[in-house]
Amino acid sequence: MEIKAIVTNEEEHFNYTTIALDDPGENQVLVKVVASGICHTDATVLDGSIPTPYPAVLGHEGSGIVEKVGSNVKSVVKGDHVVLGFSYCGHCEGCLSGNPGGCENMIALNTSGTDENGETPLHSTEGKDISQFFGQSSFAHYSVADEKNVVKVSKDVDLKLLGPLGCGIMTGSGTILNSLAPKPGSSIVIYGTGAVGLSGLMAAKISNCSTIIAVDIHDSRLELARELGATHTINSTKEDPVEKINKITNGGANYGFETTGVNTVIVQAVKSLRVKGVLASVAVGKKDVTLDYTSDVVFKAVTIKGVIEGDAVPQTFIPKLVKFYQDGLFPFDKLVKLYKYTDVKQAFEDSKNGSTIKPILVME
Ligand SMILES: NC(=O)c1ccc[n+]([C@@H]2O[C@H](COP(=O)([O-])OP(=O)(O)OC[C@H]3O[C@@H](n4cnc5c(N)ncnc54)[C@H](O)[C@@H]3O)[C@@H](O)[C@H]2O)c1
Ligand SMILES: [Zn+2]
Ligand SMILES: [Zn+2]
Repeated sequence: MEIKAIVTNEEEHFNYTTIALDDPGENQVLVKVVASGICHTDATVLDGSIPTPYPAVLGHEGSGIVEKVGSNVKSVVKGDHVVLGFSYCGHCEGCLSGNPGGCENMIALNTSGTDENGETPLHSTEGKDISQFFGQSSFAHYSVADEKNVVKVSKDVDLKLLGPLGCGIMTGSGTILNSLAPKPGSSIVIYGTGAVGLSGLMAAKISNCSTIIAVDIHDSRLELARELGATHTINSTKEDPVEKINKITNGGANYGFETTGVNTVIVQAVKSLRVKGVLASVAVGKKDVTLDYTSDVVFKAVTIKGVIEGDAVPQTFIPKLVKFYQDGLFPFDKLVKLYKYTDVKQAFEDSKNGSTIKPILVME
């Protein structure tokens, strides 16, 4: 079928145009996209740090309504409300041990432009292949995704808001709830109060951390961090965060969450931990980090772990986040600003200049 989509090329990042979309295969689902979040990872394609072959349709935080399902699809039916997640293969060691975020084929499946068979459902009207991103390409009015990428959600919640639960918000909250799993009463420092960091912060509150320290360079974001549950905030352009955290926690935090990807901040995050502390790192980009390894890592017996997609199984984790939201424990809507899809350029700009934390393009 012919659909309208936002096609990204080297010369033109946001070209709203007509393309062709294949019918769903037997294990696939056709979704009418209602809205799509913009994640920092979409921007890393544009700046070349996570390349995807052009032309491509970006977007990997889609939400929508099931329009048609393939003959083998069991988990959703026409009319279901769904969130689109990331692609995983389902047959590697990571997937089979219940950790799809640790899928060994993660990078290829989500950023190479095609599925495992080298196929994409997106083509130009002349029949040339267009890269599919994260197995969904949600900056379009329709998406064809594998059943594994499709998560059924409650119809009682505004579907427009839910797309970011498929990546940024799941990553932030899942890193805390699944990967760090902080003990009640423990201390945690969160570097970067963007969509990922603030989602982690709300999860730290759900986990009953008693000291939740947020660090950023923007006072407005730190204000929101306080509103969402930070017990302390630090503007690292005005104060030395390591010194202050050391004072607040009497020797360093039990847990750290690094979301900025800034080399010097990664070092600060390691230095903010107390003995046996654990740091989770999620930011992508180029990193040449120099640590005083013996003093800061070995002698303090700290753990540094990378986390992908919040160590979450989307099918079980996203409905949990929706329930937390309905119960008033996870007010992620406070991070969101809605944009019409034709304002995609503005939405990316507002994300980059920091004025919007989580832009969502409304595709309807
Ligand atoms: N690992 C994964 O699976 C995964 C999934 C989604 C996103 N990500 C990555 O997570 C990262 C965070 O995403 P986001 O959407 O929250 O980004 P964001 O840009 O909204 O947030 C980053 C925050 O860091 C702050 N910051 C920048 N420089 C700083 C400094 N020197 N000191 C303190 N704070 C500073 C910014 O002000 C901003 O609030 C990105 O790199 C994104 O690509 C990873
Ligand atoms: Zn896998
Ligand atoms: Zn993302």
